[in-house]
This record gives sequence, structure tokens and C-alpha cells, in this order.
Amino acid sequence: MSQNIFSTPFTAESNTIDFAKKMDQADPLKKFRDEFHFPQTAKGENQLYFAGHSLGLMPKRAHAFVNQELNSWAKYGVEGHFLGSHPWVHYHEFITESFARLVGAKKSEVIAMNTLTVNLHLMLVSFYRPTQKRFKILIENNTFPSDKYAVDSQARFHGFDPKQAIVELKPGVDGLTVSEESILETIKQHGDELAVIMLGDCNYLSGQKFDMKKIVEAGHKVGAVVGFNLAHGAGNLHLTLHDDNVDFAMWCSYKYLNSGPGGLAGAYVNEKHLNKKDIPRFEGWWGHNKESRFKMGPDFEPLPTAEAWQLSNPPIFQLASLRASMELFDEAGIKNLREKGDHLTGYFEWLLKENLADTIEVVTPKSRGSMLCLKFKTSPKAWFDKMIHAGCIVDFREPYIIRATPVPLYNNYEDVFKLVMLLKEFSKG
Ligand SMILES: Cc1ncc(COP(=O)(O)O)c(C=O)c1O
Repeated sequence: MSQNIFSTPFTAESNTIDFAKKMDQADPLKKFRDEFHFPQTAKGENQLYFAGHSLGLMPKRAHAFVNQELNSWAKYGVEGHFLGSHPWVHYHEFITESFARLVGAKKSEVIAMNTLTVNLHLMLVSFYRPTQKRFKILIENNTFPSDKYAVDSQARFHGFDPKQAIVELKPGVDGLTVSEESILETIKQHGDELAVIMLGDCNYLSGQKFDMKKIVEAGHKVGAVVGFNLAHGAGNLHLTLHDDNVDFAMWCSYKYLNSGPGGLAGAYVNEKHLNKKDIPRFEGWWGHNKESRFKMGPDFEPLPTAEAWQLSNPPIFQLASLRASMELFDEAGIKNLREKGDHLTGYFEWLLKENLADTIEVVTPKSRGSMLCLKFKTSPKAWFDKMIHAGCIVDFREPYIIRATPVPLYNNYEDVFKLVMLLKEFSKG
């Protein structure tokens, strides 16, 4: 093995369980696997869990974090807002630093609040301000349905027909991925009609990662506001939102951020948009000046940070499990995780090509995070059913896509090797 194990090249020897085990032994991040609960097979073994792009595994320490707040509730009742080691009135602030580090933002620019689609709407309320000339929103070609419903409804809300207002990127011949030239060309083509560009940083279906900085530059050049949905990037990619000059972003935390089902989402607002008097925003009391919030006055005084977008007092138990996971990200470091992730996903792709090139095509390009989008040449649903039955958890998207993700925080090389060997076994019929 080389000095930096994540630059180990793949050779004939890599197609063995011994190689996978050696890599796991040498992995400097291996201790994090034990921090998670793995669902068990009927035989009492860990499932081969490859669905972290959908719902991340439960950090073991989430029990303690949530219990701590249940205990505070039992012990203090309403006074828990001000007592205990983590008073609830400040609780979302315990996430701020970790979120800022994770997405490459300033602390003033991020907030943990609501859920993803809610945050998308809140951001569009502020940043989609169409005029008769500039009214279009650019989205991905295969947008997650909720994002499409959100932008369509926003266009309608402002009196526009989504058929005219919503522009989709044009995929290449595979029908899934988009070339960079085509993205930049589409931005140029719609130019001064584009109000907002709202793409994923990583497409939910193809796993393709976009060059955020280039898209922001191209968008700003034509006068558009540029936002990203980080559902598949937060906790997966090494992000630099502030330096890339992204205007706004939002993400969920139940996928790569392991906060549990329905976990709280995040939002980012570039500091240049904070403190603007004329920015339209839907408002609630948790966005109001903390000093005077409990004076219960009738007039809204926005906080000078992304917290101004916060509406309600937040759900503490959801924040508690998110805190547990963010502590792990702080310990592991997103740059280190991405380095391992690139190698682990590279191993996955290499093994598939080595063993199953005639059966499975990897659709995801090299510009990606940890997820691979796999196209099965025959009966994908039958393959999927067999995998689930064998305790190998991936997901299936109509009509033919199977998504599988080795998550560097808790998956290892042995998982990847076993998954590919299982597929090879199935391929024999
Ligand atoms: C890209 C993308 N957008 C939106 C959503 C919807 O998220 P939520 O139900 O948390 O609003 C998801 C959920 O998987 C997603 O992957």
C-alpha cells in the first residue's frame, strides 16, 4: 500500500477480498464505521447498506443527544428553553459552526431550519422576483419532482405560465448527464430573461456534479441570481459556497448528514444579501432580534444573519440527532471524507468494470460525489428485488436506474467488494 492509501492504484490484486480488507485496515477513517447502527440481515449480519444518498444510517451517539433533551424536558418543563447544558432557545445555534464548515460559508450565512422544500420556497420568495422581461428559472433536466413542483408553483404564484417560465437543461445522448458547454450555452441563450438559476450541486439521479463556480460566474454575467439545492451535496461534496459566490442554497440532512427521517434542513444566504432592507421575505418570530423577541412587539426586526429567514421555534429532538451527526463530520473532516469517497467510489466503478462490464453500465461521470447511478442492461427491477432480498440496500428509480452509494463515513472497501461479488453471482442466473 502507498503512503496515502487513497491514492492506491487498482490492479489485478484489487479484485480480491484480501485487497479490500487491507485497505480497510489501513483506512485512517475506519473508526467512524463503529459510530453507526447498521440494519441487520435475518442472519444477524450487517446489511450491505448503500442507500446513504436516501437515508443516512443512525449515529449511535444520537441516542444520547436526543435523550439529553428528553431528560431536560422531564426535568425542567418550559424552563428547558433557558436551563440545561444546551438551552433550547439557542439550540439551532449549536449547529451553525458545523454547517458553515461543511458547506464553506460564514457562520452568519447559514441556518438549520425547516425542511428542504420549505426552504426552497422561502429562498425563492426572496430571490425569484420576476419582471415581464426577466422571469425564467433554469433547472436541471431530470429535476427531483418536488423541486419542479416548487418552481412551477412559484412561477404560477407570480402570474407566469411554467411552460414559458421554467427552462430545463438539455441532457446528452444518455438522457441523463449534461455537458458543461451545454449548461453555459443554455445560460447564455436565455440571458437577460433568466431571473434565477436553481440547480442541484449533484444531480439526484445521475450523480453528476456540476461546477458551481463556473455556473455562478455565467449566471451573474447575464444578471441572474444563482442558487443550488445541495440535497445530494451536503455531507457528500467538499463545498465552498461563499468563495464560489453562490447567492442562496438549501439542503436536507437526512441523507449524507444522517439526522434521521424528516431531519431538519439547512439554508445559506450569501452575506451580500443579508441586512438588505428591500429583500422580500416571509417572516416569523424566530427571525426577530433575539434581544427583543420576548418583548412580543408587533413589528419585525430581522436578525442580521441567515437566521432572519427562520420562522418558528425549532424542533429540538430533530436538531439533537443532527448535532450528533455533525459532531462526527467535525471529527472526520469533509475534505478527508471526500478523499476517501473518491477512492472508494473509484474502487466500486473499477470492480464493476472488471467483473460486470457486459451487464452494468455506470452512468455517473467522473465529476461526482460518492453515488453511482447504474444502468442494468436487462430487467433492472428483477436485479433490484434480488439485491434487497439478499440484504443489499440500494434504490431503484423508474424506468431502469439503480442508485448505490458507498458512504466514506461508514461504508468500507469490504462492503463494496461484497456488493460487486453478489452482483456477479446474480449475473450467472
Ligand atoms: C434533490 C431533492 N430535492 C428535493 C427533495 C425533497 O426533500 P424534502 O421532502 O425534504 O422537502 C429531495 C429528497 O430526496 C431531493 O433529493
